[in-house]
Amino acid sequence: EKGTFPFYMLKEVSEQPAVMRRLISRYVDQAGAPQFDQAMLEALASADRLYIVAAGTSYHAGLVGQSLFEQLAKVPTEAYLASEFGYHQPLLSAKPMFIFLTQSGETADIRQVLVNVKQAGYPSLTLTNVITSTLAREADYAVELAAGPEIAVASTKAYTAQVAVEALLAKALGMVKQVPAAAAFDVAHQLSLAATGQQALIDQQEQLHLLATDMFGKTRNAFFIGRGTDYFVSLEAALKLKEISYVQAEGFAAGELKHGTIALIEQDTPVVAFITDPVTAARTRSNAEEVEARGAKVLRIASASLAEPGDQVIVDDLDPLLTPLLTIIPGQLLAYFTSLDRGYDVDRPRNLAKSVTVE
Ligand code: F6R
Repeated sequence: EKGTFPFYMLKEVSEQPAVMRRLISRYVDQAGAPQFDQAMLEALASADRLYIVAAGTSYHAGLVGQSLFEQLAKVPTEAYLASEFGYHQPLLSAKPMFIFLTQSGETADIRQVLVNVKQAGYPSLTLTNVITSTLAREADYAVELAAGPEIAVASTKAYTAQVAVEALLAKALGMVKQVPAAAAFDVAHQLSLAATGQQALIDQQEQLHLLATDMFGKTRNAFFIGRGTDYFVSLEAALKLKEISYVQAEGFAAGELKHGTIALIEQDTPVVAFITDPVTAARTRSNAEEVEARGAKVLRIASASLAEPGDQVIVDDLDPLLTPLLTIIPGQLLAYFTSLDRGYDVDRPRNLAKSVTVE
């Protein structure tokens, strides 16, 4: 039931802080240590490389997961599009383990990979919101995202739940492998800060509506830029805008703009810049200035400690690995209000189905 919300999407965006808190109480014990099935952790710990296989929004969550597993568990990790992996399988490591990230657990492109992986005898884990789904049943292990039913076609709370569960798993794996970075990473504290920060952004929705109208009210195209984790959020924010408002949007690695795409910048072209990483903040800011000098209308979404006068959206500080849990909220809400302003059916965009059961 969507209750007082005009659309499921807004309801599901608003539920994200509660999902973060639910994941803490579900997966973290009194001492602050994540708890998962021991056999599954042992399988993960004996892998020499993790392959995260997913589609769409879940793939974007997988890109964030790649850094989490590499930095907290020190295991080489690669995120792949399921629809590509199925036909262009990379040369695998000696002891790979597969992680299938999927809200619905029914995505055909992933199932095709899973069938091959099982045939080859490699271990597999499905992270899914639907624990009774095909991919949960067919993998060796399954972990529930516990985001609650997601009805709107555009995925929102499943994305943040995926990032949070990847962080919990990466921490648990890092503890098994005695990685110092994992010991120093207080995942429950980070997720609880994320919940508070998400709520603060959800509470600013009127202001985000005004920004959406100003930025995307009349445009036919838009760009989202960032580096590293901010680049991965750019991909997801662009997908949200595309699928529900039909604005042609591209997520871009900020440094790549000058290698071609900057040719598309005209007077008033909207560019959203994500700035949450202290290491790359200055460079992304200068990329934003380059497009502004060519007439672009720039919206900066920055972390509090990196914010400068004129930045329109400020998110709370969080471990740089987890900032997507915050920065995607304005991404989701800007897309929502653009769709709403244009009078579209936000929950049921044209040409799309909630789960994609054909290859
Ligand atoms: C975007 C969206 C899709 C799905 C993709 C994978 O908002 O919903 O891109 O993320 O079809 O679906 P699942 O996660 O169910 O495998």
